[in-house]
Amino acid sequence: MRVLGIETSCDETGIALWDSEAGLLAHRLHSQTEIHATYGGVVPELASRDHIRRTIPLVERTLADAGLDLDAVDGVTATAGPGLLGALLVGLSAGKAIAFARELPFLGIHHLEAHLLAPALEERPPEFPFLALLVSGGHTLLAEVSGVGRYRLLGQSLDDAAGEAFDKTAKLLELGFPGGPAVARAAEGGDAAAFDLPRPMVDKPNLDFSFSGLKTAVLNAAKAAGDDPDPGFRTDLCASFQEAVVDVLWRKSARALEQAGLDRLVVAGGVGANAHLRTRFAAATEELGVGLHFPRPDFCTDNGAMVAHAGGLRLVAGERDGWDRTAVARWPL
Ligand code: KG4
Ligand code: ZN
Repeated sequence: MRVLGIETSCDETGIALWDSEAGLLAHRLHSQTEIHATYGGVVPELASRDHIRRTIPLVERTLADAGLDLDAVDGVTATAGPGLLGALLVGLSAGKAIAFARELPFLGIHHLEAHLLAPALEERPPEFPFLALLVSGGHTLLAEVSGVGRYRLLGQSLDDAAGEAFDKTAKLLELGFPGGPAVARAAEGGDAAAFDLPRPMVDKPNLDFSFSGLKTAVLNAAKAAGDDPDPGFRTDLCASFQEAVVDVLWRKSARALEQAGLDRLVVAGGVGANAHLRTRFAAATEELGVGLHFPRPDFCTDNGAMVAHAGGLRLVAGERDGWDRTAVARWPL
């Protein structure tokens, strides 16, 4: 089955064509970073308008990349939530319209499910069951994944998501947008032990997270440094912040692996693209004898491939949505 996937939940238009036999055939992404950079964050209305401009041309280009046209498509899927409602509606409506016109099955897919199944697009797909650490701009959670649609939530952030902490830290230190890659760049060569930043909730036995205190600690450190800090200050603070986030994420993941008795870990979502996180997690899992799976960095952040793939798996299994399927801003996994 060849499935066209559409992702428009936030500020990236992602389109892909996935084949249940041959795997990923083509994928394209249009990022709106430039539009939102002026505002230091995603402006929902501008996001929706740009998705309207980009979606159909990008579908055409993706099909052309694969040397195919709509006649070759057997099913359509689009992200139905969670995300920005207006942005979601663009991709979902486009997907439903294509499916309706071509008399194809349609399915709305959960954005987080698409993220956590994304490592299966790589050469060494993880076998079920595995522990998933999902770290994006809107969510930070640990879940036991025993199959497609079989998710047990083990813990989540009680306040800011890990990506949000990166974004807010970047804003505070005036590093630019999007925040995660900006902080990672600014941290290069810094001393991660220069600032003694808190590790919120690591001493609690549960698997929940909290990142808002960490953001406050960064703010306090910045204030204490005054208006004219020495040149290495920002580099060291970013390195210390990044290390604190990664340290908390790893310690909670290790605890979850042990509590759930799992020996495979999947890290997905935008923060999973962080190079320091990838290095630290690789060393720590090797020491424990735990299998580690990431999507390639481009498939950690939002993309159409993960949507075509996750929606494709469900369409192949016979699932379909009616034409009354609508987008939802909030949708628990
Ligand atoms: O998964 P994603 O693309 O969108 C959501 O579903 O939220 O995640 C975006 C988040 C943003 O907060 C962004 O700052 C963060 O992922 N991010 C990173 C990196 N690349 C993206 N955080 C740290 N290091 C990175 N290299
Ligand atoms: Zn995402």
